Amino acid sequence: MVELLPSILSADFARLGEQVRAAERGGGSVIHVDVMDGHFVPNLTIGPPVVKSLRRATDLPLDCHMMIENPDEFVGPFAEAGANWMSVHYEACRHLHRSLQLIEQHGMKPGVVINPATEVDLLIPVLGMVHHVLVMSVNPGFGGQSFIPYSLKKLRRLKELRQELGLSYRIEVDGGVAHDTIADIVQAGAELLVAGNAVFGDGNPERDARALLEAARKAEKKSSKFPPSRKSGAKNGAPRRGR
Ligand code: DX5
Ligand code: ZN
Repeated sequence: MVELLPSILSADFARLGEQVRAAERGGGSVIHVDVMDGHFVPNLTIGPPVVKSLRRATDLPLDCHMMIENPDEFVGPFAEAGANWMSVHYEACRHLHRSLQLIEQHGMKPGVVINPATEVDLLIPVLGMVHHVLVMSVNPGFGGQSFIPYSLKKLRRLKELRQELGLSYRIEVDGGVAHDTIADIVQAGAELLVAGNAVFGDGNPERDARALLEAARKAEKKSSKFPPSRKSGAKNGAPRRGR
């Protein structure tokens, strides 16, 4: 079942609680929190105090996406602040296996993230220990960028690997998720859909979250009726002509 994860990066930070609750009324089911350090990515955002305030503003799970150089040092503070899910970048962790263990030990659901230039198969050794795998479909650091189409291949590969390896991780996507990309994204296998600009960009997060989630559910329904077949070369699950 697809879920919408509003990313507060594009929210009005002066009215954060209110904006998060509006996105929740529109169907957002997990709140995505982008943590940036100005080193791993060229931008700075928020730390544990904001997560602590968010924790009081909503009962939804808080999904912390750590775009920082030294995530291990912040696992404890974010867990104490009330984070529920935490994903760390393959590219930022020298000892990824250990970082994921640490997140789990702090009672959070561990996730691993890959940048656009990192291949999915590099994650095979840790796929059995994560709750979610996050595919960055833009270069991390900023909201409102265009979706990188190669990401669809990665989503398909993750779905294929999950079946092959008999695992149950969830497939998350982040960056450029919007009305013009969402059908292909869902069709490719993403279930956890992070959206910042498409939810908060127009100042009406309730309406815009609802519309985006509806589009995602529609695509999901279509894809379960007409599952994509790579052998037939069918696009978007449509049966090939003459069959
Ligand atoms: C980018 C962040 C995203 C960002 C996505 O580094 O990880 O979560 O909010 O923004 P949109 O949905 O606007 O592409
Ligand atoms: Zn993110």
